[in-house]
Amino acid sequence: MSFTNKPNLILLFMIFSTLIFFTLSLDLSNAPAEAPTSYGDGWLPFAKKHVIIINKVKNKEILNVHCKSSKTDLGMVHIPWNGTWDFRFHVNFSKTTKFHCHFTWTGGGSHYFYIFKVSRDDHVHGKFLVCKECIWEVGRDDKNPICRIPRSEKDKPYCFKWEDGPWKKLL
Ligand SMILES: *[C@@H]1O[C@H](CO)[C@@H](O)[C@H](O)[C@H]1NC(C)=O
Ligand SMILES: *[C@@H]1O[C@H](CO)[C@@H](O)[C@H](O)[C@H]1NC(C)=O
Repeated sequence: MSFTNKPNLILLFMIFSTLIFFTLSLDLSNAPAEAPTSYGDGWLPFAKKHVIIINKVKNKEILNVHCKSSKTDLGMVHIPWNGTWDFRFHVNFSKTTKFHCHFTWTGGGSHYFYIFKVSRDDHVHGKFLVCKECIWEVGRDDKNPICRIPRSEKDKPYCFKWEDGPWKKLL
């Protein structure tokens, strides 16, 4: 009995490996078109995210942004006033993917914020709507200077204070 089953198992294994191989190569074939993308956060794409940061600082200075996850360092970028910068990544299988950013601009100081975390941005039963395209405006307001902008104009933005906590030592 066990001997007659073996060829079937091998065939099944081959079909599965081929499927997995194709899924992975399809995933990778997208890579050049959307760099920088964090494929280091896991092989199996769980959910694809697009983070967009818009510089709206009041004094119209250049906004310097440096974002990182535990696996990926996106480097320092300089966003002109009213300009945007974006990156794409996949939330990994364990749903622990997080990106934190350091923001500086002349006259604006030095601030930290989790630009993406599952509990806020990808939690179906959470306090905030899930975003696939997560658009953030920086610096419009002094009190709650970073806002996630809704896709629809009738919804209100979610505005937050900087997260200048002790965890910034991670950066
Ligand atoms: C800011 O950028 C938006 C979108 O590109 C544009 O429509 C708007 O006119 C710009 N505002 C100013 C003051 O340049
Ligand atoms: C998922 O991503 C987080 C942070 O981005 C990392 O700490 C964790 O090891 C990753 N898990 C897997 C299974 O890749």
